[in-house]
Amino acid sequence: MSLLIIGGTGTLGRQIVLQALTKGYKVRCLVRNFRKANFLKEWGVELVYGDLTKPETIPPCLKGITAIIDASTSRPDELDSLKYVDWEGKLYLLEAAKLAKIERFIFFSIQNIEELSEIPLPKVKYTIERKIINSNLPYTIFRLNGFYQNLIAQYAIPILENLPIWITDENMYIAYMDTQDIAIFCLRALQLPKTKNQLISLDGLKFWASSEVIKLCEQLAGQPAKIQRIPSIFLNLIANIVGFFEWGQNISGRLAFTQIISNDVNSIKNAKSSVNLNEPSRLITSDVYPLFKIESSDLIKLEDYFLEYFIRLLKRLRDINFEDVQKQRNLIL
Ligand SMILES: NC(=O)c1ccc[n+]([C@@H]2O[C@H](COP(=O)([O-])OP(=O)(O)OC[C@H]3O[C@@H](n4cnc5c(N)ncnc54)[C@H](OP(=O)(O)O)[C@@H]3O)[C@@H](O)[C@H]2O)c1
Repeated sequence: MSLLIIGGTGTLGRQIVLQALTKGYKVRCLVRNFRKANFLKEWGVELVYGDLTKPETIPPCLKGITAIIDASTSRPDELDSLKYVDWEGKLYLLEAAKLAKIERFIFFSIQNIEELSEIPLPKVKYTIERKIINSNLPYTIFRLNGFYQNLIAQYAIPILENLPIWITDENMYIAYMDTQDIAIFCLRALQLPKTKNQLISLDGLKFWASSEVIKLCEQLAGQPAKIQRIPSIFLNLIANIVGFFEWGQNISGRLAFTQIISNDVNSIKNAKSSVNLNEPSRLITSDVYPLFKIESSDLIKLEDYFLEYFIRLLKRLRDINFEDVQKQRNLIL
């Protein structure tokens, strides 16, 4: 099976590339900047030029490809990219995938998006989900929570740099996951016929309140967070003013994102009973782990992820300090 991975330079995409190479797949990545993607080439990936906003560049990338894994999304610093990448770009990609008779199309969406049709990115993702489901392409859609990787910018760095952290006043819980683990699920889906034409809700091991994540970072950083509370009523307002949002970086994005993928405790408990039978075939988290033959103990815990991050950071700081001392010594000598 030959794979085309889109978004291979991204947070999740690069883990999918690594996992695919480890599993022995032939991997091609559609990239728009060869220099930026050079690390993928060094890993053994075939790079092809493509840009979702340039429809003519897509079909040549699909030659000889049997499955597409699309981990691309708009970059928040690029003007109008939500419209051109997450909407129009995905429509071009779907058309090209149909013509190329792709045998599996894997797409990443967001948990609980039905409930947030007012926010632009979920709205677009939801519509694309429907387009994929009605396309006759064999698909797997993963609905994801937040990534551990984004929590570094969201919580760890502000605490370390003594910057404010914005949180809402509600009891929101998010079942974050490490992108390495999501990549394992993604690659396994290619081998599991039962995941074909399924909408899969993927949750991490534990639902975290932001206060718990902050506490964990405070313990590891050895210093308190500067917490700023914002009423959640302002969330939609801010998200609407900004127009679209970025993941885990600016305030509106962080807050809107929290609102989208988080659950209050009751909705978590009722998750199974709330599945709408008229919807496309879906798998909820409690069914997903056994199907993928993944035990919860196989997954990376948030505590371990943060611990490794802080250890690496401390080592780096020590090395920098050591280099500075060496430089000063050389100057004196
Ligand atoms: N982050 C989260 O917490 C979260 C939560 C739920 C779902 N998701 C979904 O998971 C997927 C991966 O998210 P991520 O956070 O890993 O994304 P990311 O780090 O922001 O990476 C985005 C990727 O898309 C590529 N891209 C952007 N515009 C493109 C274009 N015009 N043509 C081709 N490629 C383009 C980027 O390439 P360049 O390097 O060239 O910019 C990059 O590789 C997305 O579908 C996202 O919606 C994410």
